Amino acid sequence: MMESIILIGFMGAGKTTISREVANILNCQRVDMDDVLVERIGSISQYFEQHGEASFRQHETNLLKEAITQESVIATGGGVILQEENQQVLADKKVIYLKADPEVLIDRIRNDEENIRPNAANKNDGEIKDLFHSRERLYEQLAKITVETSHRCPQEIASEIIQQL
Ligand code: S3P
Repeated sequence: MMESIILIGFMGAGKTTISREVANILNCQRVDMDDVLVERIGSISQYFEQHGEASFRQHETNLLKEAITQESVIATGGGVILQEENQQVLADKKVIYLKADPEVLIDRIRNDEENIRPNAANKNDGEIKDLFHSRERLYEQLAKITVETSHRCPQEIASEIIQQL
């Protein structure tokens, strides 16, 4: 039986893309938490506007608990590590931190026109960097494996993950 593999990291780290690669190679199921949340609550940025971030986090926390019971590669949302409840859930799991330079993350976030992220869209570069640094230690502490994703292609990143599993 395969243990779930959970990809964490900031917005733009490549969680969705890499989860596809890894799930393909391992020939296993994949859960993209943001996609499932959009199915459940609609557009994430609209949801933030109408109900606030705290309410979004509750949906996210509930979904993580469900997703973790399946044997799959899980692409989380960048803020999943904020909830203490989630930190506990992740503590003994196969958590992989996709790490990238803040400049690279900001470029990817700005170039991703179809995915409007409420925690980045209205921030300037300095504010996004601050948010990144405020979360960085949590990503590092929760990770069992850390993989660098700046200036590397998805195939290379995925094969490094597979080697380290
Ligand atoms: C968020 C990241 C997003 C999404 C939501 C909040 C965050 O996921 O869950 O917009 O606070 O970092 P991605 O990391 O997939 O962009």
